[in-house]
Amino acid sequence: MIEPSKILELNKVAKQMVAAGKGILAADESFNTIEKRFAKINLPSTEENRRAYREMLFAAPGIGEYISGVIMFDETIRQRATDGHTFVTILEKAGVLPGIKVDLGTKEMDDSPNEKVTKGLEGLPDRLAQYARFGAKFAKWRAVIAIDEELPTEANIGQNARDLANYALACQEAGLVPMVEPEVLMDGSHTLERCEEVSLKVLEAVFAELKNAGVAFEGMILKTNMVLPGKDSGQAAVPEEIAAATLEVFKKALPSTLAGQAFLSGGQSEKEATVNLNAINKLGPHPWPLTFSYGRALQDSALKIWAGKPENARAAREIFLHRAKMNGLAAEGKYGAEME
Ligand code: 13P
Repeated sequence: MIEPSKILELNKVAKQMVAAGKGILAADESFNTIEKRFAKINLPSTEENRRAYREMLFAAPGIGEYISGVIMFDETIRQRATDGHTFVTILEKAGVLPGIKVDLGTKEMDDSPNEKVTKGLEGLPDRLAQYARFGAKFAKWRAVIAIDEELPTEANIGQNARDLANYALACQEAGLVPMVEPEVLMDGSHTLERCEEVSLKVLEAVFAELKNAGVAFEGMILKTNMVLPGKDSGQAAVPEEIAAATLEVFKKALPSTLAGQAFLSGGQSEKEATVNLNAINKLGPHPWPLTFSYGRALQDSALKIWAGKPENARAAREIFLHRAKMNGLAAEGKYGAEME
């Protein structure tokens, strides 16, 4: 069990992460993922290019107005801005909480090669202690759930839920707020109804394991998917349907004491991710703050405009901050297309 004084501290940070009108920037792309993103702008993924790109984002003037926290990758939390300050210091000065991805990616599940489990529990307490010394205030662990008519299997849901709970408990013991990320993928031809069914099953399993492990819900943030039709389903869902289905699942599965939920964008376009978040919050108030923790939906345009050139940093920052502002408004249900 986590001591009450520790839970109070974790709750304070968790509340800051989901503060009104703010959300989280996921900039924790692994080496493989950032290489894919950079390939789109024909930029080699060197250590210096990765550093320069993250500096463009993190040192954007006024970032703290809409961004409450940034999730970094292991390499990034050790890097420095051009002025010599660590990224942790740069973020702290801007009033942004430094966070860190602590999972080590996914691997095929034994006996179910089309499903994945997440690596990184071994040695986790030592790594968490080191990240806390670097100044991280929260952590992230992503579990990936494949979906079709048959998948996910009970075994896959169970293992991912248990691993997320073990991770979350280790974080809270180390004084870091866990972001618990079960992601039901958008890939596939499944319907919105199937996504709703699977998302509910997954979240119920995750919260049962979290409770079982003694994780304090007040000291954690959920990071999960919106209920969406599969990318190849051909099904067109309007934001109001997506919002209603997502909230239906949350009402059934999320404990009222949960500090907050921050959505991943998961392959939605920048505007879809904003419009859908807005539709969800327009149906509020809800028992928990519901905000964003977007990677691609905050970065896609900024990366394209930046294109690896220092002279483009200003324009790239402008579009990045614009998306952050639009999502900040959507987190309060106050966004409108005319604001674009
Ligand atoms: P996307 O918003 O691009 O899905 O990334 C969020 C994230 O952190 C996935 O783990």
